[in-house]
Amino acid sequence: MKAIGIVGSPRKGGNTEILTSHTLKAITGEGLDTELIRLAGLDIRPCDACRICREGGSCPIDDDLFPIYTKMKEAEAIILATPVYFGSATAQLKALMDRTGYMSYDVRPFAGKVGGPLVVARRAGQNFTFAQLMYWFHILGFFMPGSTYWNIAFGRQPGEVGEDEEGLRTAWNFGKNIAFLVKRLKT
Ligand SMILES: Cc1cc2nc3c(=O)[nH]c(=O)nc-3n(C[C@H](O)[C@H](O)[C@H](O)COP(=O)(O)O)c2cc1C
Repeated sequence: MKAIGIVGSPRKGGNTEILTSHTLKAITGEGLDTELIRLAGLDIRPCDACRICREGGSCPIDDDLFPIYTKMKEAEAIILATPVYFGSATAQLKALMDRTGYMSYDVRPFAGKVGGPLVVARRAGQNFTFAQLMYWFHILGFFMPGSTYWNIAFGRQPGEVGEDEEGLRTAWNFGKNIAFLVKRLKT
């Protein structure tokens, strides 16, 4: 049983990565395998609406998305994590969401999997972005466990999220609930 955390920040080692690692650590502690996947430095292009994926073909865009999509289909749980950029998810994560969402919309490989969002920002936009990501999980048939607050945290410079005690605790409890639900669904 495996959970993957996809980090949509272009900044390696930043707050989103720290928060995602923290959640994955909670999941590892419950006996699941975990992997953190950074979009930083990868070539993930936006959907160009060719619709080939909806007509039985695979996405013709030749970039770094396909190996990640394969890992997403193999995992039991998926976390999508992003910093807030102008009130929204990063363009990198949105490109991944649009393309994996469209590719999987008819074939439903994510239906019955477990997942949810993690969001970090300096000051504002976490709740909107949290909802933005939840739309993706909901329409694709994921089961989304809750936590002890919405999965949001505060931080600006890399590492600052480590000072947001409630944000860390919420992310940790979210990880515990992900592991609980995966185990309930699989055993
Ligand atoms: C282009 C850009 C846009 C941003 N927009 C917002 C925003 O709308 N609200 C906010 O609170 N912080 C905003 N921030 C700050 C980041 O969300 C914050 O620094 C976050 O911790 C970055 O996460 P990371 O370290 O994982 O990259 C923005 C940062 C950048 C680079």
